[in-house]
Amino acid sequence: MSDNTFAEDIHQGLSAPLKQISSKYFYDDIGSVIFQDIMKMPEYYPTACEFEILSLQGEKIIDKLSFAEPFNIVELGAGDGIKTRQLLKQLMEKGIDFSYVPVDISGKAIDELKTNMLSHLPSLKIKPLIGNYFSMIGELSSSSTPNLFLFLGGNIGNYEAEEVRALLTGFHRNMKAGDKLLTGFDLQKNPATIRLAYDDPQGITRDFNLNLLNRINRELGGNFNLNQFEFYSFYNPLNGEVRSYLVSLKAQRVSISQSGKSYQFSQNELIWTELSKKYTLKDIERTAVENGFEVMEHFLDCKHYFTDSLWIKP
Ligand code: TRP
Repeated sequence: MSDNTFAEDIHQGLSAPLKQISSKYFYDDIGSVIFQDIMKMPEYYPTACEFEILSLQGEKIIDKLSFAEPFNIVELGAGDGIKTRQLLKQLMEKGIDFSYVPVDISGKAIDELKTNMLSHLPSLKIKPLIGNYFSMIGELSSSSTPNLFLFLGGNIGNYEAEEVRALLTGFHRNMKAGDKLLTGFDLQKNPATIRLAYDDPQGITRDFNLNLLNRINRELGGNFNLNQFEFYSFYNPLNGEVRSYLVSLKAQRVSISQSGKSYQFSQNELIWTELSKKYTLKDIERTAVENGFEVMEHFLDCKHYFTDSLWIKP
């Protein structure tokens, strides 16, 4: 993606008083491969925890819905779908009548997901939708078929409080009464466990963050010297926030040839790259109620590191 949105976002982010690069730019081809490595690290627990929840508690989750069949399982931001597949597999084995509806703005991501899902679950009813979350939720809700919306993977943790509100009120406004929402939340836990997950000793997370600068060099003709930036990540157990940064190791000017712009960095100046917020069960319950939902049940992994939280729009 070397289009103008990327260039424009980078310009805005590097011109701001606290420089920042949006975390959505982590996932180019190289970044996606590094993220696969992150998910395989022993320190990075969220993927395995949610995999466990969906593999072992799928039936409990579906029983709790008490939906008439057929119903839809609608996934917002499906990714590779491996975790979701664990849930779908159990439903198919029980002969439950449902359709799987992955929603994404990228047609390419949807095509890959569809091929992959069908190779594992050939008789899955899959009805992908390409478009933005709110309008697709609205469209699905105009029919009487019950919907379970999935927003998995702790995605929500990457949003600031106001963005969380905007997202959940948008979901709520477009859902119909009785529809359910299952959201992944990473839970607060021993701070050392969280710190290691976001700053591993092997430096995979460091490479993941530095790839942002590499990507700017490759796609926009930037001249970032990667030896003159380092990765820094900080978990604050008082508010549950992991914030990740790149640090300029010296005063330097960086230019981007595609736009002809340049940016001054002072020594130790930060570029903020990501928020990953960790919740308590109380935080989750408050968030649900503030946005018009009722909590039905929290489904936790055995270590109580992560929850998929089931809400209803009353
Ligand atoms: N958004 C993911 C998360 O919060 C991705 C991620 C894992 C990440 N490790 C990271 C993002 C380190 C920035 C820095 O878990």
